[in-house]
Amino acid sequence: MKWSTVAVATVLVVLGFGAGRMAQDGSDSPGPLPAGARSSENAPDRRRAHTYDGVGFERVKADSTLSPLDRLMLRQRKKQPIFFLGVPMSQIPSDNWRFAELLHEVRPDYIVEAGTLFGGSALYYAALLEFVNPAGRVLTVDINADQIDPRAREHELWKQRVTFVHGSSTAPEVIEQIVATIGTGKKVVVTLDTLHAPDHVARELGLYAPLVSSGSYIVVQDTYFEGLDGVIDAFLAANPEFQVDRQLARRFVFTKHTGGFLRRR
Ligand SMILES: C[S@@+](CC[C@H](N)C(=O)[O-])C[C@H]1O[C@@H](n2cnc3c(N)ncnc32)[C@H](O)[C@@H]1O
Repeated sequence: MKWSTVAVATVLVVLGFGAGRMAQDGSDSPGPLPAGARSSENAPDRRRAHTYDGVGFERVKADSTLSPLDRLMLRQRKKQPIFFLGVPMSQIPSDNWRFAELLHEVRPDYIVEAGTLFGGSALYYAALLEFVNPAGRVLTVDINADQIDPRAREHELWKQRVTFVHGSSTAPEVIEQIVATIGTGKKVVVTLDTLHAPDHVARELGLYAPLVSSGSYIVVQDTYFEGLDGVIDAFLAANPEFQVDRQLARRFVFTKHTGGFLRRR
């Protein structure tokens, strides 16, 4: 291969044109990965990378509060999802560590996750529960049941601690099932990681925030998406018992959920 070809290819990769699979639906999901494959093994898909740029990355690029390192990490996560016990997850390591600290502090009876995708994050929360509250359970909701990785479903942790709820996160029957399962007087952490569209997140906040126990959290994920700051501001104005935990967000420098760690007093 000529040096000029190598140079052009290198520049394209640095600019993100060789990025892995990206969501086309406005969600933050990496696209489907075949079982056993890491994204780097997949063929580059330029169109999807551009779709992601159009949905969320414009905001990231425009946000002057994000350092070049922040941008690099976000872009890198899109190319290389991280894995827990072999299952991909749409998270970054520093946010996972925040969850580890947060769950250790709260020791919840239930973690309610809206947005399962491959199941990597649910499996990770289940593993943390093993240590912070062995009786605890993860309830994870997704509108699409087919994308859960068999390595997640078939893991002992999943069988013992995870309940998958199939349906839209805002459907009345889904909320009823979750409320009935949790009952009353339980410590509950909620994480919202479905469609990051403002109207949808506002609805989710209204439905899931009442589940959150005092001293616990509802985490609005991926707050770099356009319009989510306004949604959170409106929610906090109407629900003064919640406040943003900025200290948690600032730890480890980088987070995808700036302003999204909402703690109930
Ligand atoms: C960003 S991914 C979740 C990532 C996962 N929490 C993780 O960290 O690996 C978003 C998921 O939300 C799901 N989703 C989109 N709209 C939804 C809705 N209205 N109700 C439930 N799930 C939805 C998608 O099917 C997708 O699996």
